[in-house]
Amino acid sequence: MRESGSRVYAALDAALRGDMFRNIKPRWIEWMKLFLAIIPFPEISAARSMAMVARLAPGEELRTGFTMQMIDEFRHSTIQMHLKKWYMENYIDPAGFDITEKAFGQCYATTIGRQLGEGFITGDAITAGNIYLSVVSETSFSNTLFVAAVSEAVRNDDYALSTVFLSVQSDETRHIGNGHSLLMSIVNDPSNHLLLERDLRYAFWQNHAVVDAVIGSIIEYGTTDRDENKASYSELWHRWIYEDYYREPPRVLRRLQLLRRWSHEQVEEVLT
Ligand SMILES: [Fe+2]
Ligand SMILES: [Fe+2]
Repeated sequence: MRESGSRVYAALDAALRGDMFRNIKPRWIEWMKLFLAIIPFPEISAARSMAMVARLAPGEELRTGFTMQMIDEFRHSTIQMHLKKWYMENYIDPAGFDITEKAFGQCYATTIGRQLGEGFITGDAITAGNIYLSVVSETSFSNTLFVAAVSEAVRNDDYALSTVFLSVQSDETRHIGNGHSLLMSIVNDPSNHLLLERDLRYAFWQNHAVVDAVIGSIIEYGTTDRDENKASYSELWHRWIYEDYYREPPRVLRRLQLLRRWSHEQVEEVLT
């Protein structure tokens, strides 16, 4: 953790020495005032959510995994807050970065950020922390949130956002592993299937309604890059969320069928 932190801060120093703010596109930075008003909140909500899932996770290993994830999520929230301060201190037009905490939740745009983050800690621990946060948000929508937004940042000469958010995304593999381990501990019981189905529908809709609205708008309208060859938000969505996420579980379950010697009927039951 110390190593990833020092790499991020070294990159921010290098960006300043390389005069990043001379080239960065003002339109992009204006949208960062909104984005960085929102994003540290879902991160700190994710940290709080870990207290909910760690209490019920079976086994010391998984409990430890969720506890470590809580520390990761604290890190995400604080380096994003630091990035906001860093823009404010170094960009020629800091107005907007200074009121993000006060303005948060006071307008429609930031209210949907509250909706995303509060969902991680509202209601049942499996619904909120396991399915909504880990299985759907971190496994699926974090790709458009942290990877697509990062590549658009670079197109707008913003190397600071990309450095910070790729460092955040590098933790998600571990978090996805935690979430799917917990899911595997409950999916064997058929009495959970309808509940999980309900949770997945709820989580997918919430993520779509918030992440696609905010990140889709930032990527399509917050950029000045009009390269015809770059993928649109909906094309990236289709690749990462439809192909890689939505269509992948049947393949994962079929692998489980081999690993855990599930019967064909058990797999079909989960899939239908
Ligand atoms: Fe996070
Ligand atoms: Fe995470």
